[in-house]
Amino acid sequence: MNAPVVRYLTGITTTGTPHLGNYVGAIRPTVQASRRPGTQNFYFLADYHALIKCDEPARIQRSTLEIAACWLAAGLDPEHVYFYRQSDIPEIPELTWLLTCVTGKGLLNRAHAYKAQVDKNNAAGVDPDFDVTAGLFMYPVLMAADIIMFNAHKVPVGRDQVQHLEMARDMASSFNHLYGEHFTLPEAQVDEAVATLPGLDGRKMSKSYDNVIALFGPREQMRKQIFSIVTDSRAPGEPKEVEGSALFQIYQAFADEGETQALRKAYAEGIAWSDAKQLLFERIDREIAPMRERYDALVANPAELERILKAGAKKARAIATPFMATLRHAVGLRNLADQPASSKGKARARSALPSFKQYREADGKHYFKLVDAGGALLLQSAAFDSPQDAGRAVARLKQDGLAAAGDAARLAEGVSEAQVGAALAQLAAG
Ligand code: TRP
Repeated sequence: MNAPVVRYLTGITTTGTPHLGNYVGAIRPTVQASRRPGTQNFYFLADYHALIKCDEPARIQRSTLEIAACWLAAGLDPEHVYFYRQSDIPEIPELTWLLTCVTGKGLLNRAHAYKAQVDKNNAAGVDPDFDVTAGLFMYPVLMAADIIMFNAHKVPVGRDQVQHLEMARDMASSFNHLYGEHFTLPEAQVDEAVATLPGLDGRKMSKSYDNVIALFGPREQMRKQIFSIVTDSRAPGEPKEVEGSALFQIYQAFADEGETQALRKAYAEGIAWSDAKQLLFERIDREIAPMRERYDALVANPAELERILKAGAKKARAIATPFMATLRHAVGLRNLADQPASSKGKARARSALPSFKQYREADGKHYFKLVDAGGALLLQSAAFDSPQDAGRAVARLKQDGLAAAGDAARLAEGVSEAQVGAALAQLAAG
């Protein structure tokens, strides 16, 4: 049997220009991960999200261009993955609205980014919603639409985004509960092993600290930035410690084991800071220079980038457009001529039955559940390794009733055995 495909999806907000920290922490591991067999990978430029943070049109455009060029220069293969721009997929804002209508305002009130702004305003004694756009408030809904539009299983993100993933799961299950099992519940994937790079001053490399090394700046600029990494005042010949040395940590993020050991030894033997910096510059340049060439070529040819993104959008919409049609139908946005009046009664009778639903979760396991006519959960299964195993358990339940279930399923909270028995009887009769 073929192993099931696991779908990975992540978005990159198009504000700013990528730096070395982004490369080591996100771009490089993601490009590598996109080559794993048995996966489908969706990477997109979150330019609608960028509008929430930035009202400078030229910056949005420039940043979209630079970030697209970075990912491609770093080796992302647009033929192999889904690489697109969010604003090229009109189904995403359309789905955002459907989700908006099943999302409690209270859920959004609890979002960290929004709450942080409200707390700040309260502390400053100004109106709690000062400087809060509805866009900021709705950020998690747009993000949920990005994710569940493609039924992603895993979403690689930073720790700060975990809450957004929980909200996406909430919205997906609310929708499923109301309108049927349309969405996979996505899971955040936080990779603790990925290095966070220190910046020039030793703090985490970040635009907000103004301590970054640009990823694809001119070579000379990179040399200058590397030579401005803060070191201590120890003279050449004095032994130096690698612990707490930003220079060493950055080197380590690029070097192999042997190279790292060699630099460790050189530190102990008192390498001059300027020599260590030269080594670091050469090591990074070895990895980055070929990409920089590709990057410069892409940035110089925006029409080609536009063509690649449009092709990516076409591929993504081949999924999104038919799925959106299903979702529109599910909520009742339907062609009025679609449902012949004569079958109406039948449709209602059918939907008034309880039903078994079989599905696969992001953990790769297979499950089923029994829901009543209104979609409320009656019975929840344990995890099964294959859909066949789950199917057999369903068949046993249907045939021999709840007593035959054993460990295969348990009653939902507040549901009695009698309720389940009645539902099974109803199913058998229907
Ligand atoms: N909010 C994410 C960030 O700031 C960017 C993003 C937008 C995203 N949509 C997404 C990430 C969907 C993962 C999935 O990093």
